[in-house]
Amino acid sequence: KAQADPLIVEKQPWSQFLGAGVDEAPYGMPSKFEAHVRRQDVPWLTADPISSVNFTPLHELDGIITPNGLCFERHHGGVAEIAPQDYRLMINGLVDRELVFTLEDLMRFPRENHVYFLECAANSGMEWAGSQLNGCQFTHGMIHNVMYTGIPLRLLLEEAGVKTTAEWLLPEGADASGMTRSIPMEKAMDDCLVAFKMNGEALRPEQGYPVRLVVPGWEGNMWVKWLRRIEIGDQPWHHREETSKYTDLFANGKARRFTWEMDAKSVITSPSPQKPITHGPGPMVLTGVAWSGRGTIPRVDVTIDGGINWHQARMSGPSFDKSMHRFYYDFNWDGKPMLLQSRAHDSTGYVQPTKDALRAVRGENSIYHNNSIQTWAVNEQGVAENVEIS
Ligand code: MTE
Ligand code: CO
Repeated sequence: KAQADPLIVEKQPWSQFLGAGVDEAPYGMPSKFEAHVRRQDVPWLTADPISSVNFTPLHELDGIITPNGLCFERHHGGVAEIAPQDYRLMINGLVDRELVFTLEDLMRFPRENHVYFLECAANSGMEWAGSQLNGCQFTHGMIHNVMYTGIPLRLLLEEAGVKTTAEWLLPEGADASGMTRSIPMEKAMDDCLVAFKMNGEALRPEQGYPVRLVVPGWEGNMWVKWLRRIEIGDQPWHHREETSKYTDLFANGKARRFTWEMDAKSVITSPSPQKPITHGPGPMVLTGVAWSGRGTIPRVDVTIDGGINWHQARMSGPSFDKSMHRFYYDFNWDGKPMLLQSRAHDSTGYVQPTKDALRAVRGENSIYHNNSIQTWAVNEQGVAENVEIS
């Protein structure tokens, strides 16, 4: 007969004494046992935390929604602190009426709710030349997936009355970096949101409180935070973030620019270097996330032998346009080493490429838009490592 489990047969402290009351945490926090689930930076990546990035702990999350406190942050000039009463949004340039909105003015426009991923174009950028960072938090964690409440940008533009010559917009941030990007009018009129809520509550300061621009499916850099002004023009502005940055240098020295859409991509979040297998051979759950800036993810394939055999993963959870999708592959691990990969198919029929296939087209000078297949090598102990196979 097995030894009786003291956690079952003996009375434990949590059932002997009364617990904390309802007002212990007016704004609730995660369990203290989850303190390791946190955003993290890579100190050597940037010289200063004020113009830096930290990463979403994808390996600890499940489902498709990123909790607000775990959304990665990318600031070029630190977090702007703007009181709601001091907030203004200006629309100027090629419009019939130049307008300035207060936050209260914005609250009187019809609003919508949508779940979208935001991925920095530099996500996985450190992996171009070879596998480098040991964990999906660092290789793929410049992404979050949030339900936004916001006003269709189209409604604000209609209020201002865009002139027939208007072709481009320049959103500008109120932070010290004064970030700007040129956005074509067609996108603005299609699905951009001027958002003020994330996952039901006010935007977090790190995410642009009180108002940010949401540019579904397009690179995170365009999602201007602390949005203060939208200029309307007839040409792109060719500012820093669309010339020296966020362009892709090819092997022949030419550079691609205005590469706005984020290509279909996926990653296995568990097991992964920060989330080893701890339970030995037998039944196990492999899981990950996939997304595409061009639609939904109807299918993800998974291999555990480095691409010799592929298995169709089980998609679970809602499938929203330009949102993260969750996949699972439930199998019996034989305890032998594995080479894990996932491969996303998006609703346009596009299939996520291998690293070699992507490099064949793009060369090795790029930082941005690396959507290639990631490999984790798992050993007999269940320890996972970032590797590259060809
Ligand atoms: N907007 C402003 N005003 N200032 C910034 O530094 N960073 C951009 C974009 N919008 C930035 C900004 C970049 S490069 C990215 S990837 C996203 O915001 C990051 O959004 P997040 O901090 O919510 O993750
Ligand atoms: Co970015």
